[in-house]
Amino acid sequence: MSVLRINGGRPLAGRISVHGAKNSVLPILAATLIHPGEMTIHNCPDLRDVRSAIKILTALGAKIKREKDKIVVDAGTINCCNIADDLMREMRSSVIFLGAMLSRCKSAVISYPGGCELGPRPIDLHLSALKKLGISITEENGKIYCSVENLSGADIHLPFPSVGATENIMIAAMFAKGRTRITNPAREPEIEDLQNFLCAMGGKITGAGGHVIEIEGVSKTFDCEHKVIPDRIVAATYLTAVAVSGGDVLIENVEPSQMNVMCEKLSRSGCLLYQGENYIRIIRKNPLYSMGEIKTEPYPGFPTDAQALFAVLATQCDGQTVVRENIFENRYQYVPELVKMGADIKTCGRVAVINGGNCLNGAAVKAPDLRGGAALIVAALGAQGESIISELSHIDRGYENIEGCLSSIGAQIVREV
Ligand code: EPZ
Repeated sequence: MSVLRINGGRPLAGRISVHGAKNSVLPILAATLIHPGEMTIHNCPDLRDVRSAIKILTALGAKIKREKDKIVVDAGTINCCNIADDLMREMRSSVIFLGAMLSRCKSAVISYPGGCELGPRPIDLHLSALKKLGISITEENGKIYCSVENLSGADIHLPFPSVGATENIMIAAMFAKGRTRITNPAREPEIEDLQNFLCAMGGKITGAGGHVIEIEGVSKTFDCEHKVIPDRIVAATYLTAVAVSGGDVLIENVEPSQMNVMCEKLSRSGCLLYQGENYIRIIRKNPLYSMGEIKTEPYPGFPTDAQALFAVLATQCDGQTVVRENIFENRYQYVPELVKMGADIKTCGRVAVINGGNCLNGAAVKAPDLRGGAALIVAALGAQGESIISELSHIDRGYENIEGCLSSIGAQIVREV
């Protein structure tokens, strides 16, 4: 079993670059299925979830070439539209292949997707939206059977702006006859990235990032190239690592405008931030002030994926911080591990109350899920003494060579296999 061994309490310094966004590249890879030709995707990180997406594409008959951060998908040879249970279970994003398979093959068989255990993660919004496009769906023995004769555009209102459901509709509606209109869609930057990719292959989609997305069905797609946006949660991981450990780091290959709400919290805590077109420099020298309440919300609100990272930061801020997790029911599994390191946190349902100012101490802890695991790394970097973090497979879903990246800015972190 691999572990990360971290000796904390050292300031960080230097430059670090952020890899492409996991939550962009996964729906984009799924969307490559709809075009019977070659798509080239740049800035693809080498992550466990990306490897799972490649396994699904390969199992469906696509040919994949990978060279550094470039992935070329040739989906001209798709010969199957069923995803085996073990592949479905590898990650949540396997469900985004549903819209793509229906677009391409008019039928699909999947089972319920896996992914981090963050509480119930139903797919009812995906399925009811797909039904509106004319798709018949039946469930039997844990399998979901879908088929459609002619996809037709529809008005779809999402009761909650689900990221995955918005993506599935956008992809499924590419070849639907007429216009599809999504009201209350997710507005995350990854949705805009998917729109840009679908338009690059010939789609007619407008409105991503706003309150209404319109998809005019097309009959033909083309080979194209696309560069994935930077991962704002990886960038937030480095920012909080510096905020907790102290130091001066230039974080490159980021989109600062996608990180406003997180940067505002960091500035409020007393960190100095300087932003340019594609970088953020963070300096933290002095003790940290309270950041105020943290409430997770759909974009442009505070991201649930950064909740655990900022909770760690709150343990080092003056006074009390209240965190309210509004997106997922079960996103405090890292708390007992953080308490082992000396943090004062109490949770009740969706609320966590953090009394800041306790010095963190190194401990042996387990990553409970992807972002909770990343938060424990950040805590270990700021803690006195040695920490050993296990269950790294969660962290490897979303971070490429995190130990190498953090070592390059002075962290004492090694992976022991
Ligand atoms: C995406 O998950 C991200 N994953 C998650 O990132 C992220 O936390 C989440 O969006 C919210 O920002 C990917 O993009 C691959 P949702 P997704 O559908 O699409 C409920 C990470 O760590 N819901 O917006 O699954 C759901 O239970 C991961 O990188 C329904 O009730 O999120 C949740 O409470 C974890 N029915 C809320 O909506 C549905 O059919 C938000 O889910 C769908 C969702």
